[in-house]
Amino acid sequence: MKYIQIKGGAPLCGEVAVQGSKNAALPVMAACLLVRGVTVLQNCPDISDVCCMCRLLQSLGAKVERCQDALRIDASHLSSCHPPQELVMRMRSSVILAGAMLGRCGEVHLHTPGGCVIGDRPIDWHIRALGQMGAEFEEDGCLVTARARRLRGGRVVLPFPSVGATENVILAAALAEGQTDICGCAMEPEIMALCAFLNGAGARTAVAGRGHIRVTGVGALRESVYRVEADRIVAGTYLIGVLAAGGSAFLKNAPVRQMASVTALAGRMGAKLSAETGGLYVERRGRLCAPGYVETGVYPGFPTDLQSPLLVALCQAEGESRLAERIFNGRLAVAEELNRMGASIRVDGCCAGMTGGSRLYGQDVTARELRGGAALVLAGICAEGITRIRGRQFIDRGYEDIVRDLRRLGADIGDKTGL
Ligand code: UD1
Repeated sequence: MKYIQIKGGAPLCGEVAVQGSKNAALPVMAACLLVRGVTVLQNCPDISDVCCMCRLLQSLGAKVERCQDALRIDASHLSSCHPPQELVMRMRSSVILAGAMLGRCGEVHLHTPGGCVIGDRPIDWHIRALGQMGAEFEEDGCLVTARARRLRGGRVVLPFPSVGATENVILAAALAEGQTDICGCAMEPEIMALCAFLNGAGARTAVAGRGHIRVTGVGALRESVYRVEADRIVAGTYLIGVLAAGGSAFLKNAPVRQMASVTALAGRMGAKLSAETGGLYVERRGRLCAPGYVETGVYPGFPTDLQSPLLVALCQAEGESRLAERIFNGRLAVAEELNRMGASIRVDGCCAGMTGGSRLYGQDVTARELRGGAALVLAGICAEGITRIRGRQFIDRGYEDIVRDLRRLGADIGDKTGL
């Protein structure tokens, strides 16, 4: 079995280039189904979730080829509206195929999607919102069938700014009849990226206010070339790595403007940061101070995807911290593994408290989901001695090669087999 081995205890120093964004690439790939022709997506990260989406698109009849960092997606002809269960169950974001397939074919058969184990992840809001646009749903066990003879615009109100539900409605609305006003929608940078891609292909989407996106349906989308932006979560993971382990790094291509909540918190904890041409410089040499209370939130709040990495920095900072997870209810499970490494995190429902100053020690631990896995890697870098991390496949869903990147920052980290 493959595992990651880390000899920890040294600061991180150097430069690393930040890969393209997973959460921007996946919905844009789904959006390619709306284009009867070829789309080229540059800077598409080479991660297993993107590979899974490539296979999903192929299963529907699209031709997908990778050429270095670019994907060429030819959706001129589709042959199926039933992606295989095995692929859909593997990745929760396969649910965004619903909006795209309804827009393109008026029909889709989807098994209830899977994904990371980070709490309840229902799709009721997706179903209700697409229903408001004219789609009809039938459920048979875990198979959901959606059909829409014609999708029509109107006012779609989301009960919570769900990223995936917002993406699904935008995808369904792009070719729908009339104007769709999505109210209470998510405004994450990845939503803006989806709108930018669609507009580049001839769609008409616009921000009409806070939590309000307006999509005016068009007859067809055209071929285009689009560059996926850098991944704010990967950049944030490495930033938090420097914060926790100490040292200095230049995060090339980091999308600084999207990272304000993360850089502000890192500054409060004692890091020096400067936005430079082409990236972000981060340094932490002196004390690591506890920030007091932190909570995750919808953008521009602190991203839930960086909550687990942040735990590693909090449990070493001087002083008491409290953290509240406001988006996913099962996202503090990694605390148990961190405690086995010497942290003292007390979890109570969606809140965690920790007395800082914990010394971490190398341990054999297991990653069970993507961001929790990244947190264990950062913990291994901070820990005294050898840490071995199983479950690399979860980390590979979102990081092109975390071992390569952290080696570039001077970490003593490698891939091993055995264990
Ligand atoms: C996306 C991101 C994920 C990120 C999350 C929040 C992708 C591929 N994934 O996930 O990395 O952590 O946004 O920023 O882009 N909910 C319901 N019913 C629904 C839909 C959602 O109850 O129909 C709940 C979820 O259980 C969760 C909350 O809403 O508690 C937020 O979920 P959502 O914003 O939809 O996250 P995802 O789109 O799944």
